[in-house]
Amino acid sequence: MILDKKLIDKFINITSNAAISCKKYIGKNDKIIADKAATDSIRKNLNILDIDGKVVIGEGELDEAPMLYIGEKLGTGKGPSIDIAVDPLEGTNFAAKNLPGSLSVIAIASKGNLFNAPETYMDKLAVGKDVPKDATDLDFSLEKNIKNIAEAKNKDISQINACLLDRPRHKEIIKKLNDLKVNLKLISDGDISGALLVTDVKYNIDIFLGIGGGPEGVLAASALDAFNCKFQGRFLFKTDKDKNRAKKMGIKDLNKKYEINEIIKGDSIFCATGITTGDLVKGVELKNEKFITETLVTHKSSTIKIVKKEVPIT
Ligand code: FBP
Repeated sequence: MILDKKLIDKFINITSNAAISCKKYIGKNDKIIADKAATDSIRKNLNILDIDGKVVIGEGELDEAPMLYIGEKLGTGKGPSIDIAVDPLEGTNFAAKNLPGSLSVIAIASKGNLFNAPETYMDKLAVGKDVPKDATDLDFSLEKNIKNIAEAKNKDISQINACLLDRPRHKEIIKKLNDLKVNLKLISDGDISGALLVTDVKYNIDIFLGIGGGPEGVLAASALDAFNCKFQGRFLFKTDKDKNRAKKMGIKDLNKKYEINEIIKGDSIFCATGITTGDLVKGVELKNEKFITETLVTHKSSTIKIVKKEVPIT
């Protein structure tokens, strides 16, 4: 089912207002308060929309309220039935420390079309549309993926650029990439942005890989789908609690590798508004008594664009 284009503006307003709500907490070194400001704004503004919405990717479970929890119903209940994936403040450290790259992010699809994922880690791989879909795979060796990308792009391996989170768990991968002479972009946080760097040659990233948050993986996948890029993810369930929760959510094969269209089906809308300026969009600015926001928008069936909005101070 195609989502009504009118929803695009409504959802730009949602993340845009959340980003504005966060602005006063940028650099206050308190990620909880910034996250709460964004979450409260999103909940309040979604609840007045004429949608029959349900959170499928949120910030926690019911007992972790006031976060937007998985299963939470949002909207007046009168409009289209949609599934919502939301990360009100992606890059909490970035906002708290006034560093580049914090975003407010939402993705929607028709009911049943967005993966219902628990909050756990995910092993991810993303490449741009200029690489044949079968050239890379989470199950290939790192060497094979890199070699195939280099071949597809007619580049030397030493010209390949890989983006991943700078984490001790990636020590082995980083060593292998160093040995292969691949160039690295090691990000301290924010792997939705990291994954989206494969969408355009201007970012100079050939592959995004490694382990990050599962919810962030699903959100990135919904935008990558509109860009016709490749994304694969495999959830990593470590504790028994994680495994039981996954089973309750209907995940039978805990080791399953998910293809992009198993994560996001049909039409979707994705909005990511900058809180602090990053690679993808500018952060919230205050000029002449107005807030100016920038939002990366993808609507699978119609458009990909960056939208600037001016919002008067109220
Ligand atoms: P928060 O905005 O919730 O702090 O998440 C930031 C982030 O870097 C995500 O982009 C990423 O998926 C995840 O944390 C990685 O988790 P960890 O910091 O545990 O490695």
